[in-house]
Amino acid sequence: MIQLCCAFGGRSDEYEVSLQSAYAVLGSVDRNKYNLIRLGITRDGRWFHYTGPDEKIADGSWVDDSAHLCAAHLSQNYKDRTLYTDNGALAIDVFFPIMHGSFCEDGTLQGMLSLCGIPFVGSGCAASAVCMDKALTKQLIRLTGIPQADAVVARRAQVEKDPEAVCKTAEDRFPYPMFVKPARTGSSVGVSKAKDRAGLLAAIKSAARFDDKLLIEEYIPGHEFEVAVLGNDAPEASCVGEIVPGKEFYDYQNKYSDHTASYHVPARLPAETAELIRSYAVQVFRTLGCAGLARVDFFSDGQQVVFNEINTLPGFTPISMYPKLWIHDGLSYPELIDRLVTLALSAS
Ligand SMILES: Nc1ncnc2c1ncn2[C@@H]1O[C@H](COP(=O)(O)OP(=O)(O)O)[C@@H](O)[C@H]1O
Ligand SMILES: [Mg+2]
Repeated sequence: MIQLCCAFGGRSDEYEVSLQSAYAVLGSVDRNKYNLIRLGITRDGRWFHYTGPDEKIADGSWVDDSAHLCAAHLSQNYKDRTLYTDNGALAIDVFFPIMHGSFCEDGTLQGMLSLCGIPFVGSGCAASAVCMDKALTKQLIRLTGIPQADAVVARRAQVEKDPEAVCKTAEDRFPYPMFVKPARTGSSVGVSKAKDRAGLLAAIKSAARFDDKLLIEEYIPGHEFEVAVLGNDAPEASCVGEIVPGKEFYDYQNKYSDHTASYHVPARLPAETAELIRSYAVQVFRTLGCAGLARVDFFSDGQQVVFNEINTLPGFTPISMYPKLWIHDGLSYPELIDRLVTLALSAS
């Protein structure tokens, strides 16, 4: 039996998304192969070994289930691979961070796991940190020649000191509408579309609340397309999925609560455009030094393809694209988890 430590929650704005992702993963793991260790991390960063029902993870009440919570911490000794709890020690073979965003997906946790010598699912410290930062990602992808939205990068201090000047720099580069986003959030947190100067001023101030670095991007028309990539040295791309946002853009409500977005798997695209997207996805994955898994997102009007962003720990909720794309390609959810664990063990 493999001791699989599934971590959920975490200190990011995507805490709730993580709970849904974790619930889905926990429900699909092959119990004949894996012993599950549930490691819950609260919004304020406390670690607990959780032994209660998975339903309480899904509805968020796990954190109040004190009868099933036990304070826990990892041994930092290299290759000790042990989770110490108030009730004893648990051996860990593989760590699966089923979490998204800051302190989960941005290289901090990955650096700590590397220090501890614990194999883990997904990209390492450097690739995770670069992929979490949309400004750094853009700089590296520029070297590949893959098309992407032009962008102006601004700091919170500039937004506070002279917001009009920040707007002017963007207006000199591209027309309205523009997209404004924090450099290091996910799930559309802090993202807005600005149609004029007043909208842009509000958008940069809003994005600056979430991060001290933000991007103002030119608007890219077209639908959104996502590709799941799986592998280490020989990454494979899934078929392409298509998202049609239910409103102006694919925002947080659209992603997780109002269910108005529609999905097409495979995407309604000419075969050669889909192939181009798949090959770009693998190129992006390799360029950024990813491992294990990533979801790579694009815009396309059917002909031209524009890279948008990469997620090194994409959503695993029942409506998430990453597992959906592999299921379409014939890899079941339990098989997918198996592949991820095998990749984690072979990378360490
Ligand atoms: N440059 C752009 N042009 C058009 N739409 C955009 C642009 N940037 C972002 N969007 C819209 O905003 C959504 C969220 O932005 P994204 O960069 O993917 O951030 P997140 O990491 O939060 O998912 C996208 O799915 C898309 O609908
Ligand atoms: Mg996105």
